[in-house]
Amino acid sequence: MLYAIETSAITKRFEEITAVKDVSLQVKPGELFGLLGPNGAGKTTLINMMSTMTEPSGGSAKVWGFDVVRDASSVRQNIGMVFQDTTLDDRLTGRENLDLHGRLYGMDGMHRKERIKEVLALVELMDRADAIVKTYSGGMMRRLEIARGLMHHPHVLFLDEPTLGLDPQTRNHIWEYIKTLNKEEGVTIVLTTHYMEEADHLCGRIAIIDNGQIVALDTPDALKNMLGGDIIILEIEDPDRTAGLCKLYMKNGCAHAVTQKNNKVFITVKQGEQQIPHILNIALSAGISIMSVSLRKPTLDDVFLHHTGSAIRDKEVSGLEQVGYKMRTRRKK
Ligand SMILES: Nc1ncnc2c1ncn2[C@@H]1O[C@H](COP(=O)(O)OP(=O)(O)OP(=O)(O)O)[C@@H](O)[C@H]1O
Ligand SMILES: [Mg+2]
Repeated sequence: MLYAIETSAITKRFEEITAVKDVSLQVKPGELFGLLGPNGAGKTTLINMMSTMTEPSGGSAKVWGFDVVRDASSVRQNIGMVFQDTTLDDRLTGRENLDLHGRLYGMDGMHRKERIKEVLALVELMDRADAIVKTYSGGMMRRLEIARGLMHHPHVLFLDEPTLGLDPQTRNHIWEYIKTLNKEEGVTIVLTTHYMEEADHLCGRIAIIDNGQIVALDTPDALKNMLGGDIIILEIEDPDRTAGLCKLYMKNGCAHAVTQKNNKVFITVKQGEQQIPHILNIALSAGISIMSVSLRKPTLDDVFLHHTGSAIRDKEVSGLEQVGYKMRTRRKK
């Protein structure tokens, strides 16, 4: 089968840092695939290797059947790229930016004109097409960049943090465009994000990346179901007793997984509502005072916490600090 993307133990080292380590994955044509991970996880480095911007230090990758090192120019013909940082020329109009891109890809004048109309309509920028890009809002620039990435009819579109720094309303709009071009134009999309809601909402499959490695890869639902149930959160009065309480639940064997953060204990159990009394009894019998109890369905952040020991948001705040405590007893493969 021809995969849209296939990597085999792809690795990138920058002197002493290994930004991407032995990543092997396959993306099928037509997929909307997400790379989810905190700042510095290696997402940009990974898609830079797939899009021929950076050469791998080891392993290999094929995009649309072409090797990213040996057949770099064929790879480039088949991909569109929206970089994490804007690369528009803000002294030109939106239309001129698109036209320039079409010329670089050798599109003839007629074809460029038609395609510019199509891609502008797709991202709803027709009315501002002839304004200088400097006058665009952040969301409009992002939409124009997506339109530019699509100009030459690529099979695969890479979007590096497509909604970084945008307000929720603009983000929702961009999500709709991404979905539309995946469904209606049939473009295979690989996007990076550190917003778990974005990955959850958009992607058919997600690879969770931490420290340059894939720690989990599946559909959003399968990733969440893998945790094995609901999450009961206990806020306890004395933070010094959190670790002890985690151990207690682990020993008791009542939970699928237990993690902690500050004075909170996160217990993953099947049929959470029914388990609350039992969970509370264990804490109370050990003389631990509970300040609050809540129950929720797992999110991708919980999945990340489960696999790495820390939440995506904590990683962003405190680098590589490990705050979790996890167990994997009774985990079914
Ligand atoms: N050109 C470079 N030279 C040296 N180190 C680099 C270079 N590019 C990336 N790195 C390092 O590689 C690691 C991964 O960086 P990368 O930009 O791929 O992460 P990311 O997941 O895209 O993060 P972010 O969410 O902040 O965009 C980081 O430790 C980064 O400092
Ligand atoms: Mg990045």
